[in-house]
Amino acid sequence: MKKIIILFFAVVSLCGCCRRSEAERFADDLMSRMTLREKLGQMSQFVTTTGDVTGPEGEPMDINSLIRAGEVGSILNVKTPEEIEALQRLAVDSSRLGIPILFGHDIIHGCKVLFPINLASSCSWNVEAVKESARLAAAEAAAMGVAWTFSPMCDVSADPRWGRVSEGSGEDPYLGAKLSAAMVEGYQGKDLADSSTILACVKHFAAYGAPEAGRDYNTVDMSERMFRDRYLPPYVAALKAGAATAMTSFNDYEAIPASGNRWLLKELLRDELGFEGFVVSDYRAITEMIAHGVAADDKEAAALALKAWLDMEMVSGSYLNHAEALIEEGVISEKDIDRMCRNILVAKYNLGLFEDPFRYGGAERFAKAIYKKETRDFARKVAQESMVLLKNEGSVLPLDSGEKIALIGPFVSSSRSMLGSWTAFRDYDSTAVIKEGFDSRFPGRVTVAEGCTPFEDINGGIAQAVRAARNADVAVLTLGYPGELSGEATSMASVELPECQKKLLAAVKATGKPVVVLLTTGRPMALESVIDDMDALLVVWHPGTEGGHAIADVVSGDVSPSGHLTMCFPRCDGQIPIRYNHKNTGRPLKRAHPNPEKPWAKYYKSCYLNTPNTPLYPFGYGLSYTSFEFDSLTVVNPQVAMGEDVVIKARVRNVGDRDGATVAQLYIRDLVASTTRPVRELKGFERIELKSGESAELEFVLTAEDMAFCREDMKFAQEPGDFKVWVGQDSDATLEAQFTVLP
Ligand code: BGC
Repeated sequence: MKKIIILFFAVVSLCGCCRRSEAERFADDLMSRMTLREKLGQMSQFVTTTGDVTGPEGEPMDINSLIRAGEVGSILNVKTPEEIEALQRLAVDSSRLGIPILFGHDIIHGCKVLFPINLASSCSWNVEAVKESARLAAAEAAAMGVAWTFSPMCDVSADPRWGRVSEGSGEDPYLGAKLSAAMVEGYQGKDLADSSTILACVKHFAAYGAPEAGRDYNTVDMSERMFRDRYLPPYVAALKAGAATAMTSFNDYEAIPASGNRWLLKELLRDELGFEGFVVSDYRAITEMIAHGVAADDKEAAALALKAWLDMEMVSGSYLNHAEALIEEGVISEKDIDRMCRNILVAKYNLGLFEDPFRYGGAERFAKAIYKKETRDFARKVAQESMVLLKNEGSVLPLDSGEKIALIGPFVSSSRSMLGSWTAFRDYDSTAVIKEGFDSRFPGRVTVAEGCTPFEDINGGIAQAVRAARNADVAVLTLGYPGELSGEATSMASVELPECQKKLLAAVKATGKPVVVLLTTGRPMALESVIDDMDALLVVWHPGTEGGHAIADVVSGDVSPSGHLTMCFPRCDGQIPIRYNHKNTGRPLKRAHPNPEKPWAKYYKSCYLNTPNTPLYPFGYGLSYTSFEFDSLTVVNPQVAMGEDVVIKARVRNVGDRDGATVAQLYIRDLVASTTRPVRELKGFERIELKSGESAELEFVLTAEDMAFCREDMKFAQEPGDFKVWVGQDSDATLEAQFTVLP
């Protein structure tokens, strides 16, 4: 049989345009020889006892027997190339048809070399760099035998209580769409059969980024219009970029859990969006429909998922256990099973696994592929570009003039805080911590004091930190959250600085020395109560393997910071969720009051009585060591017909005395529409490097698609009307113009 498979592969033509049908013909031919259980096996993904467990554990299973029986389509989270090779060998040599296993893993922001967490790299607004990071991550992963990553995470979120914001690209659908598509292109390259490209997976379908109260796995309830306008675009962009697979989300949508939601998985994903790849459930998400309360047992859960067109089950095994009975009972048909199994076999075919099941991986190849200098250098560059300077009173930063530095705080030597979540292949010894970066960039100038742990005082810690600060010219404090506090299942009801860190900061500030805070975090934090104690605030996120060096590069001024926020930083917890692209409401804060002197004038507006509506730092915000000015905003064609592009120009100038980069951003507002529209929406951006004194002309082309939204008639399309447009460096940009789309 194995020979037949290879022969079939050899004789089919490999012309790109007919590849899918060839793959389908191959799959159908193979399926004609498969038993029902073998097909269900292809639709089942398991985790080995030695692999990473990224969800609740279940009964241990004898994976080897399942493989021999041909009942394992995919395995996730195997940790070594040797183990992958051995499992593949077992499948190919010992199962009846020798169908290769598809190995998947969470290669979320790198494999061995870790790039900054995704929220951080989104702050670079550097689409090409994000794509290149994905390409480099894929090359390392593919060399260990992983042919499928569960990335990109396309979930838009404006809720920093939700720990998984660290894995996404922030609160904006437009930026999220560009970056999600770039990641798919980076992972999958031009040809999936290339042994250094891997399958991408659009996740978590859908709307996982809007759990009530920011609690992971919680209910999601929103209108379809809101879903289509604000949450759907990044998934769509990633699918359009050719993502071969998609993953369901844990949450319900319209009161139906995503894994059993036929509207999401069949009508929207397949019929409307034309997705032709395969869908995998999230970890045990099928049988979790029992806890959701829509299935009485595993069998009912399997029926719901199969009827919703969910092709592959992650871990819980209900397809293998119950699908045969469901067919006998007429709940589903074998034709349904064939369609789903075919989708999976097609992906394996496109990867070239039937031609050579071992084309991915091999211990020797892996050893050569990892920790390449080009990958480490690139990770350092992305980390530099990801950091966001939020405050720099008196130009405390950069520290380039020989100051003595007191390096204080719980994250000075913490490698985990450099790496953040999803670090299955982490190697602490190869991670540059902040102290290492500082020691090598500022030799002989650094004194270290821990001060406190992330959440607790240390006996005498503050006194030691204060002594260090007094003996130095500047205090650099590493504050924030540890790396393990970002990612799945890390929701926090408060995103303020922990009390012990607040005390440490206040004590160091009281020394009178300038205070620079390096904030390690996987989410925006609410810092209003402590911001006055910071002279400078540089958000370094969890910057990856090269983090310590990249931080020193920016702090020293070797590189000017250029990151811009992709989520607002709230003032306090009570403002969350907070987003720049909110609606105006019928009683907006800025509405002119007929009697502003009256005591009640401050009431009856959409506002808080005890804090402003605005965040502490808005979406798009980020400082540099130089300054930029924008002017000459013109709309080249201020009156356009429906369907026509609008061309907008502006000029940006580096008016400071250092070279640097900024992110030029274009926002629009549709002034009157058939549905309420956001007060601003990002619709264009360009990261731009300018030497001191240099200026550049910017040109943005706004297409009809950019102006489309979910109209009153539920069509996603443009409407005529007047629009405002702003260009600048953040979502509060003031340089303004107007244009009209004629009916
Ligand atoms: C996560 C997914 C991940 C999967 C496999 C789940 O718990 O929600 O994002 O891909 O585990 O590790």
